[in-house]
Amino acid sequence: MPVVPKSAEEIEYMRHAGRLAAEVLDFVAPKVRAGMSTGELDKLCHDYMVEIQGTVPAPLNYAPPGYKPFPKSICTSVNHQVCHGIPGDRVLKAGDIVNIDITVIKDGYHGDTSRMFFVGEPSIQARRLVDATFECMWLGIAAVRPGGHLGDIGAAIQRRAEEHGYSVVREFCGHGIGRKFHEEPQVLHYGKAGTGLRLEPGMIFTVEPMINAGKPAIRELADGWTIVTKDHSLSAQWEHTVLVTETGFEVLTRSAGAPPMPEHLAAA
Ligand code: MF3
Ligand code: CO
Ligand code: CO
Repeated sequence: MPVVPKSAEEIEYMRHAGRLAAEVLDFVAPKVRAGMSTGELDKLCHDYMVEIQGTVPAPLNYAPPGYKPFPKSICTSVNHQVCHGIPGDRVLKAGDIVNIDITVIKDGYHGDTSRMFFVGEPSIQARRLVDATFECMWLGIAAVRPGGHLGDIGAAIQRRAEEHGYSVVREFCGHGIGRKFHEEPQVLHYGKAGTGLRLEPGMIFTVEPMINAGKPAIRELADGWTIVTKDHSLSAQWEHTVLVTETGFEVLTRSAGAPPMPEHLAAA
């Protein structure tokens, strides 16, 4: 199946959806504190999306082939949870790291973004992993340009992750996004520069590396969704939705509170 670049009109809708997804993270950020449960964060985000933004939380009842419907409106993945954590009774405590992954639908278009949050003061190891994963995401995004290849993104991410002695999760990847939550292409977070799909202006996909402090192997919990590291090492993830432009890239999931691209990359 060919990957069809989005029209100018579709891109405008995707900009809007992307900004709204990022603004949910801005809204929830100050609420990520010790004593808060992941279920409470879900409820706060759900109500913000539905009542304030007029967006639809895409995860709620999302059921790709082989999965049972996802029961909540956001994903919360704590410590050794890699992704797709289901919010519930778990109470956050000081030292936890948590990924909150937000996908909204506005006017039929999806915006998908996630950030890591520290609950209280993280350990030195946790901060290093989270910061390195943030840099990996941006190195991947910075590799996006027309005429470039999907493999450029994965290669940039894998190289930096492995320089740190970390590993890249292989089973989940970034994805095309638009009217559908998950479209073609698959955006691997590892690989070889110059390989894979050639990037064209108008293509929109996510870059969302999952980086483990230990080995890459993962396991799915009995809830059918939550992914954890097999060796119980910490895992981190950051995600943006990105447009290929005529000259490079545009991040669609920006907002006032979104942490900016690291300066040493922006200058490059
Ligand atoms: N937001 C995730 C992604 O980045 C997908 C979550 S699917 C869900 O692709 F059902 F778990 F919400
Ligand atoms: Co995504
Ligand atoms: Co996501």
